Amino acid sequence: QRPEKCVVAVDGPSGSGKSTVSRRLATAVDGVYLDTGAMYRAITWAVINGGADLNDPDAIAKIALETELSIGTDPAAPHFAANGTNVDEAIRGPEVTGAVSAVAAVPSVRKHLVALQKAIIAGHPRIIVEGRDIASVVAPDADLKVYLTASAAARAARRSAENSADVAATEADLARRDKLDSSRAVDPLKQASDALEVDTTGMGIDEVVAHLLHLLNSKVSK
Ligand code: DC
Repeated sequence: QRPEKCVVAVDGPSGSGKSTVSRRLATAVDGVYLDTGAMYRAITWAVINGGADLNDPDAIAKIALETELSIGTDPAAPHFAANGTNVDEAIRGPEVTGAVSAVAAVPSVRKHLVALQKAIIAGHPRIIVEGRDIASVVAPDADLKVYLTASAAARAARRSAENSADVAATEADLARRDKLDSSRAVDPLKQASDALEVDTTGMGIDEVVAHLLHLLNSKVSK
């Protein structure tokens, strides 16, 4: 069941089930898990904390490049810290969520984080990486590339169950972020031509994980 080496890229919009699926898959192959969205979120936390104007890409970039990130890759407990402060809770809050698309659109921020991501991938034999541009930019040689989708209603229902927010407000926020993430100039969210689309709308988590494990095992030699 466990390949000796594998890189799996899991891309898709917010609420498509990427995090849960990626963590479960990492555990199943006895590998690590890299949440690149959490990296953008942790940098955003530092940018807000540093008082940068979110309309000023240079100010954002300056803080982003100075921030020391501690990036947890244990699928059971992927803890993050920025400049020595644990940010696990703060990066899921409305302030960071509201600002992260603006920070993730700054080219030098992306360049910096993509380099970090590539180094982490190179340092682990089995790694599941979730994000928006993993198959296309971060790990174009990944063994398996999946693009997870789900209906807007299903995605909003999952997200609001996670953070007990109102479903309609969550759906509106997801739509807003999808639009920003898909329309930005640098590395917009889009399905890589060689990524396999998996629509999780009617699927349970166990079913999705089993499906991906099957796909992975058919692609990599053990
Ligand atoms: O997956 P998430 O919601 O935690 O991602 C947070 C934001 O970061 C999302 O709005 C898009 C951005 N992001 C990105 O631009 N590239 C990635 N590889 C991962 C996330």
